[in-house]
Amino acid sequence: MSNIGDYKERLAHSDWSEVHEELDYRPEGILNIGWHCSDRICRQGKGDKLALLWENVCGHEKRYTFNELRLASNTIGAHLRKLGIRDEDRVCLFMDRIPELYIGFLGILKIGAVAQPLFSAFGDESLFVRLDNAGTRAILTQRKHVGKVRKILDRLPQLEHIIIVDHDGKKALEDRESVFNLAEAETVDAFDIFPTRAESPSVLHYTSGTTGQPKGVQHVHYSLISQYLTTKWVLDLQENDIYWCTADPGWVTGTSYGIIGPWSLGITQCVLDAGFSAEAWYRFIDKHSISMWYSAPTAIRSLMKAGEEVVKRADLSSLRHLASVGEPLNAEAVIWSERVLGKPFLDTYWQTETGSIMITNLPGMPIKPGSMGKCFPGIQGAVLNAKTFEPITEPGIVGLIGFRPGWPAMMRGYWKNEKVYQEKFRNGWYLPGDRAKLDAEGYFWFVGRDDDVINTGGHLISPFEVESALLEYEAVAESAVVAKPDEVNMEVVKAYVLLKDGYLANQDTELEIMNFIRKKLSPLAMPQEIEFVGSLPKTRSGKIMRRILHAREWGEEIGDTSTLEDDE
Ligand code: WTA
Repeated sequence: MSNIGDYKERLAHSDWSEVHEELDYRPEGILNIGWHCSDRICRQGKGDKLALLWENVCGHEKRYTFNELRLASNTIGAHLRKLGIRDEDRVCLFMDRIPELYIGFLGILKIGAVAQPLFSAFGDESLFVRLDNAGTRAILTQRKHVGKVRKILDRLPQLEHIIIVDHDGKKALEDRESVFNLAEAETVDAFDIFPTRAESPSVLHYTSGTTGQPKGVQHVHYSLISQYLTTKWVLDLQENDIYWCTADPGWVTGTSYGIIGPWSLGITQCVLDAGFSAEAWYRFIDKHSISMWYSAPTAIRSLMKAGEEVVKRADLSSLRHLASVGEPLNAEAVIWSERVLGKPFLDTYWQTETGSIMITNLPGMPIKPGSMGKCFPGIQGAVLNAKTFEPITEPGIVGLIGFRPGWPAMMRGYWKNEKVYQEKFRNGWYLPGDRAKLDAEGYFWFVGRDDDVINTGGHLISPFEVESALLEYEAVAESAVVAKPDEVNMEVVKAYVLLKDGYLANQDTELEIMNFIRKKLSPLAMPQEIEFVGSLPKTRSGKIMRRILHAREWGEEIGDTSTLEDDE
């Protein structure tokens, strides 16, 4: 029996305040995600239950019970407090998927500070713009990543503390650096958790848009209400489940459903701190008897590519329920998983700004492979006419996805960017920037993004960020970055480059450019191809028209370019 029970009934009557009671939350009272994910679970008598089962690429394991999670997050919180970190200060987590990342996240929230997780593969420039924008006061990192912080330190006067969580004493510490070793720190049992309220800031995730620098998406502790209920009903986590979310907490899936969702429900979760390998992934499921698995389309397509022989070498019978997020989940992937893994992946749609699942297939609901499903109970969503922003009622017509604001996990703003935040709303609807159509039964079918953001393997890449890195290279005069089709990642990054006079358009130049930008960007944002061109299509006022290049890559009609000549 699924947690949601009769999904039709739930779709008809939904009320977030029911969750308040379940979470012992009284409006205006104290609400702290860090406390909910550890202390509260211990109070329910589950202190000895396994919270985290961590494994790295060598098969080395670490285990933490909910009580150990409570103590360890207290200990990190107390250490930060001792350094002078206060409520609302931004504290960055810049680490691989090691236990300190998950525990540190709760510790930061427990002192009322704002957790700013950043993907550890970011290069120094990507790291800089996000720390600079957030005015980050402290960063928790590993010795393998500290070199990147050192490079940008001069430009970050507000960054007071660089805390290395795995220092081995071999290399001398530099300016502003200190060591915190969880295993050696004095455990803090009694801890005054900061009395955050529903609207206190909690997490600041950075996401890429088409123009401008990445935006800090500001979430609050009240997001817990949505994250808890969507985890319970969509991911259907139940008391004895062993859960695995493959997302990195540098991205929103890794925090909303890789930390907050499962732990607020007191569920055991596994973390594999290793890259993708079909064999290792199947072995991981087999070894730990994983029953609920939340992953992403690119990973699923990679598993499909790896073939069925490798599936047979592992026992996957523990799998009870599967779900996917981050990019379009093609119908073939759903059909394949049902045939080969015995369960279909349920597609879920949401984004950093929405904080929690918005459109989804619910347990029990008939699946239409290729469709994202319906709005989660309590979410009012529509497909809107792109000019009038009124809902389109006929099925099959493509329009913009829109949601009525007001669900608990909705972002409360873009950090220091009120203007762009306001632009996300039209006619009372929040616009996530995606296009879709509805069918006669109210199922949503994803069509594409409504902007130039590139979604490569579930990671959003701003063409602007890649173009800026390219323009810093001496040989580059102009550049335009667009998505090009790819079998596994759906989209990859392609750069068009116009060289300055005197530079040769050859492989050596391409290699030099790649080497230059590699240090600045994350590997995900690296162009898979650079094409040198003699000119780039532009509007009359000189704005590069990425849309024309995009259409060329995808073999689409460019349409009437005279209408594109003017700036929008
Ligand atoms: C895309 C990830 C198609 C979409 C949680 C969205 C999807 C962006 C789906 C958010 C899906 C997410 N089908 N596209 N099921 N889920 N997307 O902020 O364009 O990293 O706006 O959040 O990914 O990406 P973000």
